[in-house]
Amino acid sequence: MRQSVPVPDDALAQLRWLRTPEGAAAAARAAVLLAEGSDLLTGLARLRAEVGPEHAGPAWELARLRARARPAFGADADVLFLTADTLEQAGRPALAARRARRLLADTADGWGVDSVADLGCASGTDTVALARAGARVLAVDLDPLARELTAANAEVLGLSDQVWVVAGDAVELVDAARGGEVAGCAGAVLDPARRAGGRRLLDPDRWSPPWSTVAALLDRAPHAVVKVAPGLDHDRVPTGVEAEWVSAGGSIVEALLWGRGRSTAWRRASLVRGDEVLELTADADPGPAPAGPVRGWLHEPDPAVIRSGLVSVAAAELDATLVDPTIAYLTSDAPAGSAWVSSYRVDEVLPFNLKKLKALLRTRGVGRVVVKKRGSPIEPEALVRQLRGPGAGSAVVVVTRVAGAPTALVCDLT
Ligand SMILES: C[S@@+](CC[C@H](N)C(=O)[O-])C[C@H]1O[C@@H](n2cnc3c(N)ncnc32)[C@H](O)[C@@H]1O
Repeated sequence: MRQSVPVPDDALAQLRWLRTPEGAAAAARAAVLLAEGSDLLTGLARLRAEVGPEHAGPAWELARLRARARPAFGADADVLFLTADTLEQAGRPALAARRARRLLADTADGWGVDSVADLGCASGTDTVALARAGARVLAVDLDPLARELTAANAEVLGLSDQVWVVAGDAVELVDAARGGEVAGCAGAVLDPARRAGGRRLLDPDRWSPPWSTVAALLDRAPHAVVKVAPGLDHDRVPTGVEAEWVSAGGSIVEALLWGRGRSTAWRRASLVRGDEVLELTADADPGPAPAGPVRGWLHEPDPAVIRSGLVSVAAAELDATLVDPTIAYLTSDAPAGSAWVSSYRVDEVLPFNLKKLKALLRTRGVGRVVVKKRGSPIEPEALVRQLRGPGAGSAVVVVTRVAGAPTALVCDLT
């Protein structure tokens, strides 16, 4: 079994020192210096003098990462052990908690999950969320530094009694899965590494573990959830597996595949607004929405609706049609009042022509525009500059295709 990956020279030793009372005091001191606004040079010089040259760098780095983690991790961030890599790979704790609750909830037929294998734990965001949701967690990683971080974080958050951290290869553990269990656990979480050398790996076959392990897990473990890239091709989603796209603040924040024992829909779009989560689902592919002429209102669906293939479900709710069969803009006679779309009142519809568009905006006293586009090669920033003028008014200019023709829609900015 492959059990280790290269770790920077003394990273493990540094982490172990940071876990001692002296290390904790040094990280706390670094946090104070950072909070006081010390820059790197001054802060490090002070820390070197106080805790010694070999410990100052690690303490400073940990304090810096904790400060960066605070908005998402809250008070936990002040005690967590992180590296720049594991923080970058970590999902949002609130989303990990939501996933954990769904994975552990009793199913309609009364099936419960009380133990979960976290296959690739990094610094343990999922492990912690699963343990807090009540599971016993087997946290697995190839990387010894990741294992040390997860063990440290479970300990510092008082979860050690529920967490076992072990070296292991997720590929082999999934290959060996039997009777729906992975490594003796009733449930599994797989969050493959989807970056290498600071770049996204667009090809799922190059993730670690690769797509073959994702597919095998979904085949063998009904109570599994896999985090995937938001751009995952729908063709990859196995039959009977629910794919979910989650958005917050107008961007996709995660995409998930739910094992067959946990799937309750064909696709799900979830929109996170503070503590509230809105969900739109379909039990089967709803097909495309009907297309029709532009009406009084234009609606831009949330990216989770678009990525999950549920535009026609949103369209039916709004009594709306597509402006073009290939473009995800909807149109209807009335404002939508729906969280699933952003709505704009349409004032003018004209074939796209820069000169005519400029002239129209001048006539309407519009000097400031927000440009949106879909299905057009224009550069929004460049068009904003070209359309800027002396007028006091503002507008949203939507450049798109309508029934196949390049079109500009001038809409209210309200
Ligand atoms: C994206 S990170 C997981 C992040 C984690 N879920 C979180 O929220 O903090 C992927 C992790 O999988 C580990 N990994 C990659 N390939 C693996 C394999 N074949 N077996 C076990 N762990 C693996 C990496 O070392 C890395 O720590």
